[in-house]
Amino acid sequence: MFRLSKKMSSRMRTTILLAALVIVIYFYKDVIDHSITRRQLDVSKDVNQTDPPPTNSSYVYSWPRCERNMSSTKIRNFTQLPEIIQNVFYYRHCRHFPMLLDVPDKCGGVNGSADVFLLLIIKSSPENYDRREILRKTWAGEKLHNGVWIRRLFIVGSRNAGFDKVRLDKGLELEQREYNDILQWDFNDTFYNLTVKQILFLEWKERHCPHARFLLNGDDDVFASTNNMVDYLQSLKDNTGNKHLFAGDLIENVGPIRKPDNKYFIPVELQQSDLYPPYCGGGGFLLSSYTASVIYNMSHSITLFPIDDVYFGLCMAEAGIGPISHKGMKTGGLIMPFRGIDRYDPCYYRDVLLVHRFLSAKLYYMWNQVNDPNLDCSLEI
Ligand SMILES: *[C@@H]1O[C@H](CO)[C@@H](O)[C@H](O)[C@H]1NC(C)=O
Ligand SMILES: *[C@@H]1O[C@H](CO)[C@@H](O)[C@H](O)[C@H]1NC(C)=O
Ligand SMILES: *[C@@H]1O[C@H](CO)[C@@H](O)[C@H](O)[C@H]1NC(C)=O
Ligand SMILES: *[C@@H]1O[C@H](CO)[C@@H](O)[C@H](O)[C@H]1NC(C)=O
Ligand SMILES: *[C@@H]1O[C@H](CO)[C@@H](O)[C@H](O)[C@H]1NC(C)=O
Ligand SMILES: *[C@@H]1O[C@H](CO)[C@@H](O)[C@H](O)[C@H]1NC(C)=O
Repeated sequence: MFRLSKKMSSRMRTTILLAALVIVIYFYKDVIDHSITRRQLDVSKDVNQTDPPPTNSSYVYSWPRCERNMSSTKIRNFTQLPEIIQNVFYYRHCRHFPMLLDVPDKCGGVNGSADVFLLLIIKSSPENYDRREILRKTWAGEKLHNGVWIRRLFIVGSRNAGFDKVRLDKGLELEQREYNDILQWDFNDTFYNLTVKQILFLEWKERHCPHARFLLNGDDDVFASTNNMVDYLQSLKDNTGNKHLFAGDLIENVGPIRKPDNKYFIPVELQQSDLYPPYCGGGGFLLSSYTASVIYNMSHSITLFPIDDVYFGLCMAEAGIGPISHKGMKTGGLIMPFRGIDRYDPCYYRDVLLVHRFLSAKLYYMWNQVNDPNLDCSLEI
């Protein structure tokens, strides 16, 4: 390059070196952004999003970019709808996105998947590294319990284009190298895209893990006991996973919230009926492999509805099956028997299957308390 003159002051040298570094970083960032864009666009244009899922599994890595449905603007009152809802209309036909991270052999292959008794499917987001780390260390550990295997997968989307996306995706790659427990697709990981995340997973399961008997599907901010779940599932008359089961915090006789400023706002243009079918709170529910297949099959002919737990309810209703209530699945949190008692007393958590919502330090502490062999709950009423 160039030789630094002896006469140059050391301060000047530092300034020049710093400037050079800034230029290098600037161009390097550009190269990364560019390569990401290319990865997304460098795909065959002749694949229609409505095609059936390809059987060659390497194919799914390169779905074409799904374009906006511009006819949505003709929907009544479209311009008055919040931007976030407009986005739902623009993209709700999109069911395929390129896969960024995969663990095709998580269940030991198609045949091996019969050995997985409970597969934990935890909805997470790229930036929730700390939540995933805590779950791996606590209740979501992969293990053998009562002679059967529990396995774990996080399902995530991605972020906006740009430097943030690059960094978060790189971080996920590092996690994957260490734990091999992430399925990631290249779509904007937002609340209203949870349904697409779920359907992408169900499709993955059909291909790579069809015989895993039961699934826990839930959030990354819950406390749970997989031992209690396995005990419950093993106690069922038929625990092969080939019968219908969908159990959780049952929600009935509720309908869409019509207030535009609410997190769950659903305008009539999106859902006309004022009543949802019965469904289970999305914080966590248990389902059989059979029911997962039914929901996946039904999803082909049912327009994606942006609230994922309600969408599962819609699919089941269409198939003529429904969810049941399990008292141990507390997605609304734990309700204390009376005021003034310690809501973090581990004895209240010993017999639950799942409680929403629990984060980092409290979760770590509670899990260790509940699993302490010396925990004495004999004084409880
Ligand atoms: C696009 O939106 C219009 C209006 O909602 C709808 O009738 C049409 O089926 C949509 N097209 C696709 C491919 O989903
Ligand atoms: C939607 O449009 C109708 C007329 O087409 C109007 O009466 C109604 O107030 C509009 N709703 C909103 C939320 O703007
Ligand atoms: C899975 O099992 C079936 C039936 O036993 C057998 O035909 C097939 O070859 C097996 N596949 C693999 C990949 O082992
Ligand atoms: C992703 O979603 C966020 C939140 O809705 C939004 O601000 C952002 O523009 C979206 N990005 C893309 C690329 O769609
Ligand atoms: C869902 O993801 C797609 C692809 O990234 C994005 O274009 C769309 O805006 C997202 N939808 C919502 C409702 O955030
Ligand atoms: C789902 O559809 C596939 C393909 O049509 C079929 O083989 C399978 O039996 C269906 N599953 C259920 C549970 O209905």
